Amino acid sequence: MSAATSRDDLGVYVHIPFCERVCPYCDFAVLGVGRLEPERERRYVELLLRELDLLWQKHGPDLADRPLATIYLGGGTPGLLQPGSVERLLRSLEARLGGPAREVTLELNPGTLESGRAAGFRAAGVTRLSIGLQSLHDRTLRRLGRAQKAAEALRGLESCLAVGFDSLSVDLIFGAPEQTEAELFGDLERVIELGVPHVSAYALTIEPGTPFARARERGLLRLPDEETELRMSLGLRARLAEAGYEQYEISSFARPGHRSRHNQRYWACRDVLGLGVSAASLVADLRFQNTRDLAEWETAVAEGRSPVGESRPVSAREARQDFVGLGFRCLDGIRRSDFQRRFGAPLEVFFAAELRELRELDLVADREDSLRLTERGIRFADEVFQRFVGR
Ligand SMILES: C[S@@+](CC[C@H](N)C(=O)[O-])C[C@H]1O[C@@H](n2cnc3c(N)ncnc32)[C@H](O)[C@@H]1O
Ligand code: SF4
Repeated sequence: MSAATSRDDLGVYVHIPFCERVCPYCDFAVLGVGRLEPERERRYVELLLRELDLLWQKHGPDLADRPLATIYLGGGTPGLLQPGSVERLLRSLEARLGGPAREVTLELNPGTLESGRAAGFRAAGVTRLSIGLQSLHDRTLRRLGRAQKAAEALRGLESCLAVGFDSLSVDLIFGAPEQTEAELFGDLERVIELGVPHVSAYALTIEPGTPFARARERGLLRLPDEETELRMSLGLRARLAEAGYEQYEISSFARPGHRSRHNQRYWACRDVLGLGVSAASLVADLRFQNTRDLAEWETAVAEGRSPVGESRPVSAREARQDFVGLGFRCLDGIRRSDFQRRFGAPLEVFFAAELRELRELDLVADREDSLRLTERGIRFADEVFQRFVGR
């Protein structure tokens, strides 16, 4: 067992970069394609499988004999793929990496979901959907530059719920241009009423270099003020708690038994192998990330070259910092015994000064064997993370 990462089971992330059109706030590696042409889809899936072979050649000893725990098809909009492509991908991953996986998630946009496709994904082996709902108000969706209309999105969501996945998550955005609290809390009621078992609620982030960043610079983006955004965040948390959802991570809320196994791997610094343009991996103490340029990724893989742009070993110091910084994202916090088992010494040996300061600022507190964010810490979580991750 390596010192810094868990070498037992493995998660796999597959990036599908295609979207109907690109949202002006999005900073993922994406390409707006309108309809996804079958030839483009076939080629991309073919290259993903070639990339898996390349990874196997290079990292085989670190990947072999590790049960496949989770697969996450993210994007972009993997919901644009035909179920047949998803099936091909899943079977190939399982054949190569001791599958089947316990949890297989697919992200989709409910406004652009062709009828029958959700059932096709279920039949292909997808167990969990992550649905980019964002809002159920046309004005907010329009302001966000989303391709979908609220009524279509609601129909899409209902059709996904009817299929009977093991779990299902809905993404909501708050702090969107001109979005009101009444709209947001109305959307939340609808999601709760429909019995959606997992909600991810993201504050809109203005990412540098996006059309939203340029619009803000020119004073063209009317965002809710800070107090309104704070009330939105607190209101979401309070209502979801009242309705029986546990907040288990800063943006994630689940009914019992519905936490995302795959996402929890990232916060626990457990190995995930990434495939596809821009995908990031952590395997056996090595972090590597593919180029974000689709043409470059395609050419490299087609020619049998590695598409990795950056690669570096994770030092013991960095592994400890990631473990603490990412661990604090989870509201259960960091178990002292887990830290000690992984790094061979108590937390305080490495982080005495940081933890003292965070306690004094009432950002983190001790509870039994763990150290976790306080109410104030949840509100100012970035202040906590910044002290550890990326230092
Ligand atoms: C990669 S998307 C996948 C789902 C699908 N593409 C969609 O957007 O509906 C995952 C989530 O990230 C959210 N997201 C993307 N950019 C964001 C930003 N700048 N601020 C907050 N949330 C963002 C999206 O709204 C989406 O729910
Ligand atoms: S649909 Fe999702 S991934 Fe695609 S551009 Fe919009 S936010 Fe980004």
